[in-house]
Amino acid sequence: MTVRLLGLNCSPRDNSNSGIMLETSFDQLDTTYPGEAEHEIVHLRDLHIEPCKACNVCGKTKDTGRFIPCVRVDEDDVQTVLERMVAADGLLVATPVYFGLPSDLFSRFIMRTRPLRHQDFKLANRPVGVMATAGRRSGGAETAILATWLPFVRNGCLVVGNGDGTCQFGAYGWAGGRGHILSDEWGLEQGFQTTERVFTLAKVFKAGAEATGFESPMKFSYSAGMRP
Ligand SMILES: Cc1cc2nc3c(=O)[nH]c(=O)nc-3n(C[C@H](O)[C@H](O)[C@H](O)COP(=O)(O)O)c2cc1C
Repeated sequence: MTVRLLGLNCSPRDNSNSGIMLETSFDQLDTTYPGEAEHEIVHLRDLHIEPCKACNVCGKTKDTGRFIPCVRVDEDDVQTVLERMVAADGLLVATPVYFGLPSDLFSRFIMRTRPLRHQDFKLANRPVGVMATAGRRSGGAETAILATWLPFVRNGCLVVGNGDGTCQFGAYGWAGGRGHILSDEWGLEQGFQTTERVFTLAKVFKAGAEATGFESPMKFSYSAGMRP
């Protein structure tokens, strides 16, 4: 069984610390678990990503009983990323810390995952781990990690920390300029631990689902929790 992992690099910079964090983590995964994982990195900066236009059409899916894709589907590159996320068994998200939050590129992209939620939670039960790189110690890496988690919870994913002896909130990279992360040994180690944790849980979940024929029972309700 091969476990598919997708890394989302949410830095707008080339040669970014976030991208390096994902690359080194996947390299170490290959060394530690040879042949067990397939992985790819989507660099959001390379894509055309329009913002959600708040038309609410994707939210009408369940009212009509039909699948109505996002109205932007032919306007940019988002749909292909959504399909790759759905095909993945686990997700790793790496973002720079901006004002204690994930990048605006992450925010713009993640709003566009709403159609997946409205299609009975197509990302349900995917383990998700986050790596956040900040220029300053105590500069908001953990708040950025938590903020990154939230939309994945909303998508029915299983957010995880790094799962070592301390079980931190994921990976905190401490770096400023491009490539500085390479000297942050502890940050890179946490990046691998987070990747390993997602990989392990994705493997166990996939094996269990295949053995039992499990299919996610989660059904999206358009009306639950809405004001009448
Ligand atoms: C607009 C902007 C806001 C930033 N805000 C913070 C911040 O709140 N806290 C912090 O520690 N570093 C902050 N930084 C520094 C970046 O997080 C840091 O340079 C990081 O290594 C960038 O990662 P990247 O190479 O993956 O883009 C900010 C940088 C920019 C450009």
